[in-house]
Amino acid sequence: YLAESLTILVIGASGDLAKKLTAPALYQLFTRDYLPKQMTIVGYARSEKSDEELRKAWRPVLLEAHEGEEETIDAFLSKVVYRRGQYDSAEDVAAVFKEQEENEQADGQQVANRLFYFAVPPSVFADIGAAIKEGALSQTGWNRLVVEKPFGKDTESFEELSKTINGLFTPEQTYFVDHYLGKEMNQNLLVLRFANSMFEPLWNRNYIDSVVITFKEDIGTEGRGGYFDSFGIVRDVMQNHLTQMLALIAMDAPVRASGENFGNYVRDEKVKVLHAIKPISIDDCVLGQYTAPDDGSMAGYTEDDTVPDDSVTPTYAALVMHVNNPRWAGVPFVMKAGKALDQKKVEVRIKFKTPVAAECMFPDVRVPTNELVLRVQPNEAVYMKTNVKMPGLAGVPVATELDLSYRTRFDDKMADSPSAYTRLILDCLRGKQASFVRDDELRAAWKIFTPLLHDIDAGKKQPTKYKAFSRGPAEGDEFVSQFYKRDPTYE
Ligand code: BG6
Repeated sequence: YLAESLTILVIGASGDLAKKLTAPALYQLFTRDYLPKQMTIVGYARSEKSDEELRKAWRPVLLEAHEGEEETIDAFLSKVVYRRGQYDSAEDVAAVFKEQEENEQADGQQVANRLFYFAVPPSVFADIGAAIKEGALSQTGWNRLVVEKPFGKDTESFEELSKTINGLFTPEQTYFVDHYLGKEMNQNLLVLRFANSMFEPLWNRNYIDSVVITFKEDIGTEGRGGYFDSFGIVRDVMQNHLTQMLALIAMDAPVRASGENFGNYVRDEKVKVLHAIKPISIDDCVLGQYTAPDDGSMAGYTEDDTVPDDSVTPTYAALVMHVNNPRWAGVPFVMKAGKALDQKKVEVRIKFKTPVAAECMFPDVRVPTNELVLRVQPNEAVYMKTNVKMPGLAGVPVATELDLSYRTRFDDKMADSPSAYTRLILDCLRGKQASFVRDDELRAAWKIFTPLLHDIDAGKKQPTKYKAFSRGPAEGDEFVSQFYKRDPTYE
């Protein structure tokens, strides 16, 4: 399938995103031979820099992750050049591609494909998009854009961005990244849900009691306070990453899981779920903001120089969503997300109902409920809390785990597993859009969250303070326990 020649323009190449995520993903593709021989990565940004300076900036990140691979890293970096230009100058962008075309012609290439990777804030999108359209599109091969969040701040700003993008490029050319869709466990959902007869028939309101999606980080907003303060945790991870996970958990089976129209089959099902969710009310959420821990090992959120002292931006939120369709009516989908919490963990808990038989047979004991847990990170795992008889002379049911740790089962595969970005960029090169978010999904997701976000922005609910490295505000746990009863006998 490999293209005859490929140019990857990394717009915003001097930035952190390009260095920490895009470059390592491209390197992983390079080492696995997924990039064509005739390939150039052109870093593009406004600052003055030489090719060598960009390579020098990217090298340590690659070396850190791939010790002992100096030679391969240098071979990869020899494909990287840097060109300076303004974001609103069609001329500057065209100059880059004029040079590329000359190289392509010298190589006798017929088909030139182009990937435009936007590692820049959306405020410059309109300018650089127009400049690309005017001066950089290939006439012989494909042109694809990879665009990073934030995709606006609410419905209205999203509509503006969408109008700009749709005015310049077609949906088939546009790849909106939500990197959570590239994570192994989220990719796994399609198989786990639909390829197992022990789950597929049970995946509905008759058997499932509640779903809890948890995102916890044990770091604060270090260095990103400026960005974060105008977004907050709900926009930063819930409206996008966690909602995308919810859609994968709740959607009906796509028509097919491969082939020509696969990308749209999956996204058609996801968007239906999003349409079935009512906008979230501020009364259905708990907000929190972290303060310094007692030992002073970290600054509180508002102590960050880039955050105003009186900021009421939430760094924690717990909320509930309802998918009003025949499959899910009445099942709460709870989301909990926070920065500076007691641990780093992203997981989904699908809690099943207690079978009637168990209620009849064991009236005096609390039978633990079955729970399917998908641990997205760290250490990917799937495990099922299952009841067995407590060994010994008593006959009571006790929960144990049917446990699938990926590191144990797939040791060889997990040692060098591709990053979410590696997988997504490869999909883009192959023209596969299933793991990218479609315009109508973004619109539907914003519709769910915009009223809540506007209420938060208007200060209608003050976040409760919580100590960094704690579980978050106690109210958050109380809120979640209305929908999801933790089993006291089992964590
Ligand atoms: C980003 C958010 O989209 O996702 C960050 O802006 C967050 O605040 C990050 O830390 C989490 O991604 P990951 O892959 O580290 O779980």
